[in-house]
Amino acid sequence: MTGYSHKIRFVLDGKILEVDFNDGRYSPALTVLNYLRSLPNHRGVKEGCGVGDCGACTVVLGELAGDDSISYKAVNSCLLYLPMLQGKQLITVENVAGEHELHPVQQAMLEENASQCGYCTPGIVMSMFALYKNHHQPSLKAASDALTGNLCRCTGYQPILDAAMKACTNNGIDHFSASEADTVQLLKQIRSDDPPGIEGVTSYFRPSSLEAALDLKTRFQNAIFIDGATDIAFQLAGQPEYLIDLSGISDLKTFSKDEQYLYFGAGLTIEEVRAHTEDHLPAISKILEVFGSLQIRNRATLGGNICSASPISDVLPVLFSSEATVELLSKKGKRELAVEKFIKSYRETRINPDEILTGVRIPVRGENTISWSSKVSNRQDLDIATVNAGFRFIMGQDELVSQAILAFGGLAATTKRAIKTENFLVNKKLDEKTIRQASEILYHEFEPISDVRSDSASRRILARNLLLKCYIEYLNPNF
Ligand SMILES: Cc1cc2nc3c(=O)[nH]c(=O)nc-3n(C[C@H](O)[C@H](O)[C@H](O)COP(=O)(O)OP(=O)(O)OC[C@H]3O[C@@H](n4cnc5c(N)ncnc54)[C@H](O)[C@@H]3O)c2cc1C
Ligand code: FES
Ligand code: FES
Repeated sequence: MTGYSHKIRFVLDGKILEVDFNDGRYSPALTVLNYLRSLPNHRGVKEGCGVGDCGACTVVLGELAGDDSISYKAVNSCLLYLPMLQGKQLITVENVAGEHELHPVQQAMLEENASQCGYCTPGIVMSMFALYKNHHQPSLKAASDALTGNLCRCTGYQPILDAAMKACTNNGIDHFSASEADTVQLLKQIRSDDPPGIEGVTSYFRPSSLEAALDLKTRFQNAIFIDGATDIAFQLAGQPEYLIDLSGISDLKTFSKDEQYLYFGAGLTIEEVRAHTEDHLPAISKILEVFGSLQIRNRATLGGNICSASPISDVLPVLFSSEATVELLSKKGKRELAVEKFIKSYRETRINPDEILTGVRIPVRGENTISWSSKVSNRQDLDIATVNAGFRFIMGQDELVSQAILAFGGLAATTKRAIKTENFLVNKKLDEKTIRQASEILYHEFEPISDVRSDSASRRILARNLLLKCYIEYLNPNF
């Protein structure tokens, strides 16, 4: 198709590599994991789970950051489609050592006895390598966070963490820094390539503008939009017919703030949203710290999460309680809808087939606002929520609540507000008596399902206890 290319180019092993999808060897629905495993010299990458849960397949993507440097991010190659490599540097475990010596992270793994069977080790080395490039003397929290997405069943995590702390002390300097200027030049050579547009059993397009994406959707009406593909890649295991990848559209990656609103482009990754909200909206950044793993957060997007409409989305409860709105674009124009209205039913939204979710607007609130969030899961990290919550109280005169929003995930088929409890809280003081009465109303307000994660009765208790936790942790820390 005009303006698109059936070839992709990316940097691997210090040179530009081209894959031509017209030669029939590879499908655009092939994952980078399976692509690498098909090459003779990149089989260090391993498949454990195939669905983003173990980290054995971790690779690092280098991308131009401005005009003369590269940003390095660890990602799960089992959730990455091959054409998504266009314009990037792919770094695998085979690339990490220098010509004559191990990389500092490999040396530290060796010295700290941080590997036994070794199956998980290549993935761990890649996550640690990304940590090395991004953090000088990381805190234990940052090191643990970087390794959360990597399971290891033999070594025990302490030696691995010790290796990370030992290695990351050199301002990220290594043989990649020495060759960075050359790699930047290679990436610049492929920056202006036509975007991938590959037609076949699976057709894949990565338009560079919203207009082009809407044109493609008009032409291929049953095409599926993807961005990070962390939800879609394993749901569509096999050969989806048409994929329109929105990740090449810079208009979807903007962030802005004025006196009234914070605006987040739908294509911002969860990790980018976490960073943007750290100062402005701690209730959001806090829950995003326990969203998946860093590899997932580096790919998963805000828009993808909202459009998935999952009942255990970690993003939706805080967006409900912040009274956020979504912005939708089609050829007919723009429209805006409250996130709460946008979610229709179990995994269903009110998006029209010809629309793209372009961004999310969150109203800036005054100092009389209390926002809070929490997630309960069977495991703290890399687990989906059993119950999660986003609360917001607006305080009026005489310290009485003028508005309360209590939104929960995991209690119903969609994220849901506890309207009865909210109504009870209006015009009350947020003291222990009120909170205890409210938590009893809350206990009876939902009829949650039982599933493998938890039974119905436990979910009710969790909901009630989350309100008590908010009181103890935030509203009355001296409790
Ligand atoms: C291992 C693992 C752990 C996870 N952990 C968590 C977790 O802790 N908490 C949590 O909430 N979720 C979690 N998820 C779910 C997933 O990562 C998120 O829902 C993610 O935010 C989806 O974003 P994406 O860009 O990958 O979406 P994609 O997979 O690309 O798309 C998801 C859906 O959104 C649609 N879509 C995407 N962008 C747009 C757009 N701009 N306009 C219109 N439609 C669009 C797609 O058509 C598709 O239907 C996890 C997933 C995995 C695999
Ligand atoms: S193979 Fe387990 S995360 Fe990719
Ligand atoms: S060393 Fe065996 S699973 Fe990690």
